[in-house]
Amino acid sequence: SEQGCLSVVVLGASGDLAKKKTFPALFHLFAQGFLQSGEVHIFGYARSNLSDDGLRERIRGYLKGASEEHLSEFLQLIKYVSGSYDSKEGFEKLNKKISEYEMSNKSESTRRLFYLALPPSVYPSVCKMIRTYCMNPSGWTRVIVEKPFGKDLDSAEELSAQLGDLFEENQLYRIDHYLGKELVQNLLVLRFANRLFLPLWNRDNIDNIQIVFREDFGTDGRGGYFDQYGIIRDIIQNHLLQVFCLVAMEKPVSLKPEHIRDEKVKVLQSVNPIKHDEVVLGQYEGYKDDPTVPDDSNTPTFASVVLRVHNERWEGVPFILKAGKALSSRKAEVRVQFKDVPGDIFRCKRQGRNEFVIRLQPSEAMYMKLTVKKPGLEMATEQSELDLSYGMRYQNVKIPEAYERLILDTIRGDQQHFVRRDELKAAWQIFTPLLHDIDAGRLKAVPYHPGSRGPKEADELSERVGYMQTHGYIWIPPTLA
Ligand code: BG6
Repeated sequence: SEQGCLSVVVLGASGDLAKKKTFPALFHLFAQGFLQSGEVHIFGYARSNLSDDGLRERIRGYLKGASEEHLSEFLQLIKYVSGSYDSKEGFEKLNKKISEYEMSNKSESTRRLFYLALPPSVYPSVCKMIRTYCMNPSGWTRVIVEKPFGKDLDSAEELSAQLGDLFEENQLYRIDHYLGKELVQNLLVLRFANRLFLPLWNRDNIDNIQIVFREDFGTDGRGGYFDQYGIIRDIIQNHLLQVFCLVAMEKPVSLKPEHIRDEKVKVLQSVNPIKHDEVVLGQYEGYKDDPTVPDDSNTPTFASVVLRVHNERWEGVPFILKAGKALSSRKAEVRVQFKDVPGDIFRCKRQGRNEFVIRLQPSEAMYMKLTVKKPGLEMATEQSELDLSYGMRYQNVKIPEAYERLILDTIRGDQQHFVRRDELKAAWQIFTPLLHDIDAGRLKAVPYHPGSRGPKEADELSERVGYMQTHGYIWIPPTLA
């Protein structure tokens, strides 16, 4: 329900995630009227000794896009509690503070949302403390956690079991912020509300599908974390795999979160074991200059992995999941490439294939690459596009931030865009053997130049499994003058 006193507790309040994502998202929700003063209290919890104002000052600079008045009103909602992540005292103090505000609020029902903006190593102890000292006596208690959930199947299952002993599945919100992105949320609508796509979305018509993430910066300042995980755990096993699920799954029985999540689990369980010769790993030159990265690190900062789905719809269609840091550009997109036209009388196969591209970011867009008659007197063909660029089509719409949406979903109790325990397990099942092989050095990362497209071996792999690049065609999303 959306009624009653709401306490939002941000644990790890002075950390990076809280400052950059959690508080700004709460602020935007507040500015749009979703969090009412008088009804909402926000508590920051961390180890440092800070005053309420001390915390407010630390986060103020990250809160943008609304008036000064909104800002100071919002900051006044924030209180700070200091304590360690495993001590009774801290959490008793926190509970006391929350209860005081709940009492003064006098509303009948109360709601408690705990946001763990913390490293996962402390999840079990923090959850235990919440369970023991901070449960809501008269309304719901929900907990948001964020990846990394373990490092492989066993460690993830161990963590799931620990949290599962403390909370019910419907109290646990595992965030994958890609599920909060506008065009990721659109995938379900596109696929199942459009007659145009229904008959085409299968192995008879689609040759290959790429799901690509590129960043034009390296692991700047996060080398210590990153080296423990690598690009597959950081991006592919979660963000890209979630996108994969929405692209590949069957139609859910209904829009109920459990129906959708059931289908995601099924398609994950249909993925074949990954073959070494369908993987390319890369590491950008200079990655190991970071003092927190060991000199002999084999951690990939780039990976291209082909997934094969063993079912009636997708047998034989490669899904190329590709992600890399320190590349030439920043973008994330899904590229569905259709098969060649049989008996092509224009003999224009070499020009390019039909593609349907969903650009998740930046400049959200969908476009369909088609062959058309080149305008003019000649009967010649060329590649063109049907273009739905959000910046043009939805000029006055502000697309919400992923975290904003997901926090609101949590308050509303909608788990559709969160990862269910069995989904997480199925995701780890796919990647664990490969990750163990990389960790044991049985697969090596090849070097690539920062600012490049990544290792050329990745382009060769895509081509080998069927992707045909269109030469001489580049689509630039239109922008308003
Ligand atoms: C995070 C990864 O989950 O996603 C980062 O840990 C990455 O390495 C980030 O930079 C990318 O998110 P976005 O929303 O900027 O694409």
